[in-house]
Amino acid sequence: MPLKPPVFNPPFNILRASHVVLGVSDLAASRAFYVDCLGMLVTEATKDTLYLRGIEERNHHSIVLRETGESLCYALGYNVAEEEDLDRAAKWFAARGLSAKMVERPHQGRTLLARDARGMPLELYATMWRDMSAIRKYGLHRGARIQRIDHLNCFTDDVQSSFEFYNDLGFRLTEYTDTEDVPPQFWAVWMQRKGNVHDIAFTNGAGPRLHHVGMWTATSLDILHICDVMAAMGYVQNMERGPGRHGISNAFFLYTRDPDGHRVEMFTSDYLTVDHDNEPVRWTLRDPQRQTFWGHPAPKSWFEEGTVFEGCPVRPPVLEAQPIVAR
Ligand SMILES: [Fe+2]
Repeated sequence: MPLKPPVFNPPFNILRASHVVLGVSDLAASRAFYVDCLGMLVTEATKDTLYLRGIEERNHHSIVLRETGESLCYALGYNVAEEEDLDRAAKWFAARGLSAKMVERPHQGRTLLARDARGMPLELYATMWRDMSAIRKYGLHRGARIQRIDHLNCFTDDVQSSFEFYNDLGFRLTEYTDTEDVPPQFWAVWMQRKGNVHDIAFTNGAGPRLHHVGMWTATSLDILHICDVMAAMGYVQNMERGPGRHGISNAFFLYTRDPDGHRVEMFTSDYLTVDHDNEPVRWTLRDPQRQTFWGHPAPKSWFEEGTVFEGCPVRPPVLEAQPIVAR
C-alpha cells in the first residue's frame, strides 16, 4: 500500500468537487424529494432537466437531474481555476491515453469531458453561470437547509489505482483505511483539494460506481431536523443510515436514497486540512468506530449498492476483505 507524497504543483488546477449529473425516471418525484423535502433550490427547470443548488451556492447547479429513464451517473463535475487549466488538462489526459474532449454543457463555459484511470466520467470547466446566493434569504431555507455540495464518494475496483490518479492531480490524502494484510492494502481513501476532509473518496467494491453525493449543512441540528421532515413526509424508507457521527472525518451524517436509489448524504462538522504538513489519519478495517464513532455498523446495502456511471463497465474489486456489517 504505497503512500505517495502530496503533489503541491499539479499539472492543472482543480479547485473542488462542483456538481453531479444523475439520470432519473420521474422528474416530478425527484423534485418532491430534493426540493419539497430536502429543501434544495431550483435554479432552472426544463421539460426534462432540473438544475438544483444549495442556499449559499452561486453556481447555477450542484445537482443536475436528467429525466433519461436510466438510474445512471453521467458525470462528476469539478471546476478549475482558469481556462488554460482546461487546455493543460486535455493534453494531460491525451498523453496518458485517456479519453478527453471538449463538449457543450448548458450554463457552463468550455467543458472538458474526460475519463479517469478507472473510466469514471469527469466534467471539468472554469466558468459557470452564477446566480444570487440565498444564504441571507432565510425565508427560502427549507428542509435540511442544504448549503452546498461538499464531496463525491465512489466505489472503485482498485483503490490504489484511484488514489495514485488523484494524488497526481494534487488531491491530498486526509484519512485512509487499510486491511490486515501484510503489507496492508488500501481499503478506502479520502482526498481533498478545497481544504476540508474530502472532495472525493474511494472505497473498495464492485466499481467504479458512485456511492453518494455529500451535501453540506450548517449544523448537525439541520440533519436531525431533516429526519423529522422525512419521517413526516413519507420518506422513512429513504433513510438508509444514521443520523450519526463518522469516526472517519468526524462528520455528522445522514444517508438517504432518492426515488431512483441515488444516495445523498447530509454532512457537516469535519475539519480544516490546508496545512502543507497535514498528516493523513489511518484507520483499520476492523475498527468499529471507523464507520460510526458511536460504534453502530453500517447496513449491508451501504457496502453493496451504488449508481453505475454511463459507459463505464463495473468490475469486481481487487480486494476481498469484509468490513463490519449490521444487517
Ligand atoms: Fe460522504
